Amino acid sequence: MQSKSGQMFDVNKLVRKNIRSLKPYSSAREEFKGEARVFLDANENGEQHVQLWRSFSGNDLRTNRYPDPRQLELKTAIGQMKDIGIDNIFLGNGSDECIDLLFRSFCEPSRDNVIIIDPTYGMYEVAAGINGVEARRAALNNDFQIDLKAVKNLVDVDTKIIWLCSPNNPTGNSLNKDDILYLLSGFDGLVVLDEAYIDYSSQPSFLPFLNKFPNLVILQTFSKAWGLAGLRLGMAFAAIEIVTILNKIKPPYNISTISQHYVLESIQGEAFLKDSLSKIEVAKTRLEATLRQLPFVKKVFLSDANFVLVRFNDARAVYQYLLSNGVVVRDRSNDTLCENCLRITVGSEKENDLLIQTLQKYQSFK
Ligand SMILES: Cc1ncc(COP(=O)(O)O)c(C=O)c1O
Repeated sequence: MQSKSGQMFDVNKLVRKNIRSLKPYSSAREEFKGEARVFLDANENGEQHVQLWRSFSGNDLRTNRYPDPRQLELKTAIGQMKDIGIDNIFLGNGSDECIDLLFRSFCEPSRDNVIIIDPTYGMYEVAAGINGVEARRAALNNDFQIDLKAVKNLVDVDTKIIWLCSPNNPTGNSLNKDDILYLLSGFDGLVVLDEAYIDYSSQPSFLPFLNKFPNLVILQTFSKAWGLAGLRLGMAFAAIEIVTILNKIKPPYNISTISQHYVLESIQGEAFLKDSLSKIEVAKTRLEATLRQLPFVKKVFLSDANFVLVRFNDARAVYQYLLSNGVVVRDRSNDTLCENCLRITVGSEKENDLLIQTLQKYQSFK
């Protein structure tokens, strides 16, 4: 068939305008070329479920059939663990899928807006951009807490979601409970509270508040404390009405048979979680103390998560030096309030040792 205009095909003329101008999510791993010795950039768990993996590989899994689209067995186990009804649980291909589906369900492209705190996890803004929704940033105050006045000033009739993250990435602190409650009771749209790092936190989850607030959505994930980032399993907990909407638009078989099975096995072997959490706690205390002794470290921020935000004299130079030694961390120095800051995941003992040795070498190299 002849092209109508007779001009060369140009896909850029076809692509949606917001996708053409989209700044995609970028990870430190994409910036890094070569063989890394240690990845401390994505807040995964450095430990592996070695035993569970062995037991899993001994099982016969039917993969010629599609997985259960309602994930009933897995939801039952999650419901028991979290003390929540299975109708209040939505499962996504990572929390990232839940984030996207919330935008697609509740925000009208080119009209609605959402509020995000700043700095925070980058996917809220990327998902907003993909869905043609304006993301309005409310900078945190100097204690990394919500500036309620700033949020209030940004809300208008088209504001559909306020995105909160506690403990917050990349700052590592938990948000004040009363501020979250204030927004939940005073805002007519959804308040999404991302609790990806809640297992590490000294603060309790907001799950018990689900009954009280029909506009609350809580996100959690198996990618962090559970050490299952490779399986991609995220959870959204909410009122039945919200879960029903998310189920309506999800791809039918969004959670693979392997993920459903293996996460179920991991829940049954919960000992891993407790053991791993206490190891990370010990490792974090040691890492923080060592970092504080380095003369080129200006501040180690208090963390309620499995990573620490660290202010250096010259973050770029440290970041580059670590990269050139195969140690990948996350440069956050361009983020609001994070000048000269790197975000460093607390890894396994061996990984942390390598990081510390490399930082000590940097000191003598300078
Ligand atoms: C706050 C927060 N939410 C969600 C995610 C992504 O979770 P998932 O792996 O379940 O997509 C991350 C990953 O870094 C995160 O930091």
